[in-house]
Amino acid sequence: MSTSRRTVIATAAAAGLTAATVGSAAASGGAPRSEPFGQLADGTEISRWTLARGGTRLKVLSYGGIVQSLEIPDRAGRRANVSLGFDRIDPYVTDSPYFGALIGRYGNRIARGRFTLDGTEYQLPLNDGQNSLHGGDAGFDKRVWDVTPNGPAGLTLRYTSQDGEMGYPGTLDVRVDYTLTDSGDFRIDYEATTDAPTVVNLTSHIYFNLAGEGSGGIYDHRLSLGAGRYTPVDATLIPTGELARVAGTPFDFRRAKPIGRDIREGHEQLIRGQGFDHNFVLDKGITGRPERAATLYDPASGRLMTIDTTEPGLQFYSGNFLDGTLTGTSGRVYRQGDGLCLETQHFPDSPNQPDFPSTVLRPGQTYRSTTVHSFAAR
Ligand code: BGC
Repeated sequence: MSTSRRTVIATAAAAGLTAATVGSAAASGGAPRSEPFGQLADGTEISRWTLARGGTRLKVLSYGGIVQSLEIPDRAGRRANVSLGFDRIDPYVTDSPYFGALIGRYGNRIARGRFTLDGTEYQLPLNDGQNSLHGGDAGFDKRVWDVTPNGPAGLTLRYTSQDGEMGYPGTLDVRVDYTLTDSGDFRIDYEATTDAPTVVNLTSHIYFNLAGEGSGGIYDHRLSLGAGRYTPVDATLIPTGELARVAGTPFDFRRAKPIGRDIREGHEQLIRGQGFDHNFVLDKGITGRPERAATLYDPASGRLMTIDTTEPGLQFYSGNFLDGTLTGTSGRVYRQGDGLCLETQHFPDSPNQPDFPSTVLRPGQTYRSTTVHSFAAR
């Protein structure tokens, strides 16, 4: 604990304030600050940035743009870290299933790691059986980003992906802004330009547990999704191309329901994904401004999160492949269903699916995407 925080607590104790009160006061101010968070095998120093605003405190690594910690208050004002992760850099490099990371150049799977653009075929690394997942084995989650403070509670992260990196054509200049608003909402703005035609699909891979990371499973969390359709997958989790109706299936989250209610239904799609691991087709479609996609509520803590996005899709992944082999930030082991991802995106495998919204980016165009996570407690 820093001397100043110790002093704050000592002073607060004298004034009869609780630790939780001190926490929320500390969360509402101060410019972004950085501290060392270890180094990579080649000696590259990794920094961890802290932003605080309106009860939310966010910690971000220069490695992978990783959200290492996201603290929000419960209904009693007690803050907890609601994002799965690690307390040091090494497991992020060697073991992480993309905890908190920025994902690129292409979020989710591309079938057989292959696509054709303007008559040229491109081959990507196969890092998920016969497919390419999340930009390949050294995607944006494994890159060191240039991080600079932007405003009182914001960061700008920049990364230039070279032409041919992970098999993708075109030099891609990427900028991601992480901002905490006055009310403590967490906003992510993505932007990218290219010098040759390419495909882009950026997202954030935070694993949420609104009861606090390491506290157990998320099956009692109530989820609602603004999606009347989803994209069913084959045995390798590649979309079949169909936009199937959710009505009458376990995939119907149009009205909030506990995630665990139907997860053991034996539906073929749930068996393939070992739970929910599917792209939901948002009814709102692509929008110029972020619109509501998802609401997540933990009845035990009262923490509530809404997600608004400009994207047409959302990958709901119920943490199926967490298997008790990773020890998280607070020293507790993560088991299946201990966190869930709500990844706003274009649909998986779009470069091979002519009927899906296009993910092609050409020189002169700017890729833009925005997602806002808003927090409340009740
Ligand atoms: C994918 C899952 C994958 C997970 C972690 C999700 O976005 O849909 O299939 O296991 O990321 O890699």
